[in-house]
Amino acid sequence: MTPIRIRTGRTTAVRFVSAVAVVLVSGLAAVLNPPAAAADAGPWPDAKEPSVASLPPDYWHQPLAAQGEAPQEWSELERSLAPEACGQCHDDKYEQWRTSLHAQAFSPGLVGQLLTYDAAQTASCMECHAPLAEQKQAFEAARARGQAHQPAAQGLAAAGNSCAGCHLRRYRRYGPPERETGATGQSDPGTAHGGVFRSPDFEASEFCAACHQHDPAYAINGKPLENTVVEWRASPQAAQGITCQGCHMPERKHLWRGIHDPDMVARGLSARFHAGREAARFDLTNSGVGHAFPTYITPKVVMRAVALDASGAPRPGTAVSRVIQRTVGVRGGRWVEFSDTRLLPGETASLTLPWQGAERIRMWLDVYPDDYYDEQVYDALLAQLPAQGAPARLIAAADARARASRYRLFETELTRPD
Ligand code: HEC
Ligand code: HEC
Ligand code: HEC
Ligand code: HEC
Ligand code: HEC
Repeated sequence: MTPIRIRTGRTTAVRFVSAVAVVLVSGLAAVLNPPAAAADAGPWPDAKEPSVASLPPDYWHQPLAAQGEAPQEWSELERSLAPEACGQCHDDKYEQWRTSLHAQAFSPGLVGQLLTYDAAQTASCMECHAPLAEQKQAFEAARARGQAHQPAAQGLAAAGNSCAGCHLRRYRRYGPPERETGATGQSDPGTAHGGVFRSPDFEASEFCAACHQHDPAYAINGKPLENTVVEWRASPQAAQGITCQGCHMPERKHLWRGIHDPDMVARGLSARFHAGREAARFDLTNSGVGHAFPTYITPKVVMRAVALDASGAPRPGTAVSRVIQRTVGVRGGRWVEFSDTRLLPGETASLTLPWQGAERIRMWLDVYPDDYYDEQVYDALLAQLPAQGAPARLIAAADARARASRYRLFETELTRPD
């Protein structure tokens, strides 16, 4: 496999875990972390134009630099980093983004933990959940006022993974090649917000790597916790030129549907059911997910089957299941992998259940998008945190939300052939 070029100076691989493990891993990360990149040529608009329309090499070097000063002549609206301001002129993108998990990345489950962290640990989590320097400042300012737990007091931080985090550096707008013409490079600086610098790098899967691919140095049994870009590179979809954006931003829509969306998940899979003489069979194929299904350790997916009695009720003792999930944990101070039954692109998992005298068998797929948080992280945190405090209240809300995200797909009843 070709080694991946990681564009970030990221310092963490540290989540999904108890406070103890977080400290452990971030300590390790500090040792492994490459030095921060040197600042680029200088503040826009004086910076030299690159000859190819590439993004600046430090575009995703974390921590992101502050934007600095916006040009004097800009309106209040052009200066604003708030997604609502972008939405005044890009309302379609804003309305789509608002419904996405990127917009909800500054969530109760995150903030409940940040309240117990120092500023440095907080900043490392915010690199992916609210990446702008101005968002970190806004959150620390709220903390200094004792209001960090209130979304209304968090200012720009509450916007999560928002427009400016992906599109602005030093107040300069960056975006993909122009839709109609394919034009790249700097557009007319006389238009709104000084125009835009258009780069094909926005259309590449590597654009998403900053937050969806860890450095291979963090591998556990050969695979880092986030390995999505590497998985994608080995997929048939990558060979056909289908990128992350192709599946998650069709027609450049800012929706980013994933494991939390039943329709998206159903589109990525093929479920086939077969009523044989001896047994019923359920085959599930990863036919349209351009990476492992699922790509993260956080979801759990379970194929299930049960025989039914004459009234259609499940017959006791007949239920069988097959779990599709990667499980990891910390043992003796080290990360270890316990199992990995995820489906790589093209792979199939099967579940069979003999009739055992029954006439009918029910088969289906259960999806638990937030299983790891639900089962491991939040319960452990709630056991540690003082019950009445703001962190515990936020984590309890996150726990309820994680549990509510479960759903069922492909439910089918098979009848025994004569
Ligand atoms: C006052 C209206 C206005 C506001 C506010 C505004 N934009 Fe724009 N934006 C425009 C216009 C007009 C263009 C087209 C510029 C061009 O073609 O040179 C544009 C172009 C863009 C493009 C390139 C789109 C394309 O067609 O290729 C991106 C990306 C972009 N803006 C992002 C943002 C972001 C992010 C914000 C908020 C931080 C923002 N804009 C706020 C008016 C606005
Ligand atoms: C490298 C990028 C990255 C960093 C750094 C990061 N996260 Fe996340 N986080 C993600 C992604 C991607 C998801 C969604 C997929 C998943 O659940 O794994 C996520 C999901 C979560 C969730 C569950 C969804 C939600 O918002 O409720 C929580 C809670 C969370 N992260 C907390 C943290 C904490 C605490 C830290 C710092 C210790 C942290 N994250 C650092 C990328 C990151
Ligand atoms: C997670 C990163 C990310 C966030 C957050 C984000 N964008 Fe984008 N945006 C992209 C990418 C990537 C593309 C190019 C997609 C492609 O070419 O398939 C894009 C394209 C665009 C375009 C050009 C669309 C076109 O039709 O040609 C505009 C305008 C834009 N974004 C505005 C916004 C606004 C406004 C917000 C916030 C409401 C926002 N973006 C949030 C990554 C992001
Ligand atoms: C061929 C289409 C396709 C491509 C290409 C693709 N995805 Fe996905 N992705 C899906 C589908 C379908 C799902 C829902 C099933 C699932 O969760 O695996 C999904 C789920 C996800 C999830 C949800 C979390 C999880 O554990 O599965 C994330 C995050 C994600 N994709 C990121 C990416 C990134 C980043 C890339 C590019 C490196 C990418 N995807 C490429 C189709 C695609
Ligand atoms: C600045 C960091 C960042 C960048 C850049 C980024 N993401 Fe994300 N993404 C996140 C975080 C954090 C979450 C989880 C939000 C949450 O639930 O708290 C997420 C969630 C998602 C999900 C939803 C997963 C689910 O559980 O259903 C998809 C799909 C996704 N991202 C795809 C992409 C794609 C495609 C790109 C590139 C165009 C991209 N992301 C760029 C940070 C990022």
